[in-house]
Amino acid sequence: MIHVKNLEFAYPGSSGDTIRNISFEIARGEIFGFLGPSGAGKSTTQKILTKLLRNFRGEVQLAGKDLKHWSSEFYNHIGVGFELPNHYSKLTALENLRFFGSFYSGSLIPPMDLLRMVGLEKDAKKKTGEYSKGMKVRLNFIRAIMHDPEILFLDEPTSGLDPANARNLKDIILDQKARGKTIFLTTHNMHDAEELCDRVSFISDGNLVVTDSPRRLKLLNGKRIVKVEYGSEKIQSVEYSLDKLGENKDFLELLRRENIVAIHSKEAGLDDIFIKVTGRNLN
Ligand SMILES: Nc1ncnc2c1ncn2[C@@H]1O[C@H](COP(=O)(O)OP(=O)(O)OP(=O)(O)O)[C@@H](O)[C@H]1O
Ligand SMILES: [Mg+2]
Repeated sequence: MIHVKNLEFAYPGSSGDTIRNISFEIARGEIFGFLGPSGAGKSTTQKILTKLLRNFRGEVQLAGKDLKHWSSEFYNHIGVGFELPNHYSKLTALENLRFFGSFYSGSLIPPMDLLRMVGLEKDAKKKTGEYSKGMKVRLNFIRAIMHDPEILFLDEPTSGLDPANARNLKDIILDQKARGKTIFLTTHNMHDAEELCDRVSFISDGNLVVTDSPRRLKLLNGKRIVKVEYGSEKIQSVEYSLDKLGENKDFLELLRRENIVAIHSKEAGLDDIFIKVTGRNLN
């Protein structure tokens, strides 16, 4: 559904390339995570793929057509959740949705249904200038899906949301996937990425370092460890490899001998793997 080959891009006036020869493919119905630290080039890539930045080098095809050959009809096929919510602050949420909806040629999901999906129905007639940050983020998200597009670009969709609203929004994203949508998700939240994404790419300084499923990345790079806490007055802890744990005499002896307080299995998180693979921190 999305095909990117040897993509390079420099902002006018900047000394070098911001995006450096990146390539990836995203299949229909896939959630693809684009992960990397601040300034890595995630939003820049999203802006290229959504035709907001034009003077790129390389090949970009969406839904089987070269990006350069798509007319404005393109915007009926894609939904874009911007990094920073940009609504008309003097208009209410409902008026904003009606206004942005007027740009699309097909049928739209009724605005009140959209607002209800993200818990904003009671604030439908409030001016968005009076919205809190999380309310603006939720409104921003439903604007991206209002025309039921086949491809979604979501730039940090859960940033600034409380846990309940973040959960709800992730459930809506998973529901969109279940309905066959293709989703390009930009984030530096590794937990969201692990939960939502079929595959992720790590981007660092404009380079794509690795692309794989979160599960395989963990299998290939993670240490599998069990941490045992034991003792009564003074709690101590010890770690063992999960490999052949049932034959590990020290582990078995500890279980027999000591008062066990807790046992946790630990697998490397995507953030640990990011640091290992890129040599960089995520933030
Ligand atoms: N309009 C612009 N003009 C010039 N340089 C820009 C512009 N927008 C972004 N950049 C630069 O391009 C690089 C990548 O920025 P980008 O916004 O793509 O990062 P990001 O990965 O989305 O980071 P974040 O996680 O902070 O959102 C940064 O060095 C940034 O300073
Ligand atoms: Mg960004």
